[in-house]
Amino acid sequence: MTDQPTPAYTGPERVVSGVQPSGALHLGNYLGALKKFVAYQDQYPCFLFVADLHAVTVWQDPKLLADQTREIAAAYLAAGLDPKKAVIFPQSAVRAHSELAWIFNCVARLGWLDRMTQFKEKSGKHKERSSVGLYTYPVLQAADILAYRATKVPVGEDQRQHLELTRDIAQKFNNDFETPGFFPLTEGLIAGPGARVMSLRDGAAKMSKSDPSDNSRINLTDTPDDIAQKVRKAKTDPEPLPETEEGLAGRPEADNLVGVYGALAGKTKAEVIAEFGGKGFGTFKPALADLAVSVLAPVGESLRRYLADPGEIDRVLKDGAERASAVADPIVEETRRIVGFWRPN
Ligand code: TYM
Repeated sequence: MTDQPTPAYTGPERVVSGVQPSGALHLGNYLGALKKFVAYQDQYPCFLFVADLHAVTVWQDPKLLADQTREIAAAYLAAGLDPKKAVIFPQSAVRAHSELAWIFNCVARLGWLDRMTQFKEKSGKHKERSSVGLYTYPVLQAADILAYRATKVPVGEDQRQHLELTRDIAQKFNNDFETPGFFPLTEGLIAGPGARVMSLRDGAAKMSKSDPSDNSRINLTDTPDDIAQKVRKAKTDPEPLPETEEGLAGRPEADNLVGVYGALAGKTKAEVIAEFGGKGFGTFKPALADLAVSVLAPVGESLRRYLADPGEIDRVLKDGAERASAVADPIVEETRRIVGFWRPN
């Protein structure tokens, strides 16, 4: 896809990621993204935004959008992010994202975007009626990442293709403008059993905000009773859990629940199997429900507390936008210079 290898980027390590403000967050968002953000905030400078520019690629009610943005920021804080360490901000408040996205729209190739599976899923049968923004959405994502020259991006498995595109854009920019190593070839932090949490009603479908069945997902705002009940009702097969991890093959629901247990407990699937192998779901599900409640109920409670204080959330977002701009603006300024845009002599 790209021409030549680029000499390595040698700048500082930075972490960037974002979550769209387009519906209540669920266990997949928590395990695939938020929990990892919290783990990285002590290791690297982290730039974590609310992806409101991405959200408007499909219709959003203007009366609700700002509050939806605050809700995601509240979830970041409730999950344990410390705004003194991590930079938390609304994507649209840092203009560097949109400006770099335009330049990258002129670097990325149509053929690359044609291969993006998420556009195909999201546009469905109505490709002609989708917004142009929905199509070029992964290019904006590349700009989100490279406006900070981020080296690491913690995300769930569904974002893997977008990260590959980000690397292709970085490499083509570096090659086309003969600026080797200017943009890094960003690494996705995707590993672990929480990277792809499946629906509780169908082990073959991703847990998703857009699934019409609320029983398919555990929401961060669910009460302990809701959480326990959803785990109890989760679809399973009649066999006990296998004695080895390989025995999970061909058993998507069992595999998913073992993965969720592992991700919540900070264990591998093999360790979960070592504990529960040979036991039936009658034993495993109550243990999973207890664990899920013990991890998620405090997050939900904290989320409600933050939501009751929107002034505090706004202070975090405003401060974050300033700190984010202070890093991204000089990088985009340098990009403008490389592209050759007019500047006064
Ligand atoms: P979004 O808002 O759909 O999802 C937010 C994060 O949650 C992860 N995720 C999951 N992880 C595991 N299992 C699941 N079932 C599951 N569902 C969602 C996603 O992988 C994601 O990490 N395009 C992104 C937002 C974005 C972004 C970025 C991310 C915009 N710019 C730059 C990283 C870097 C999105 O729509 O995520």
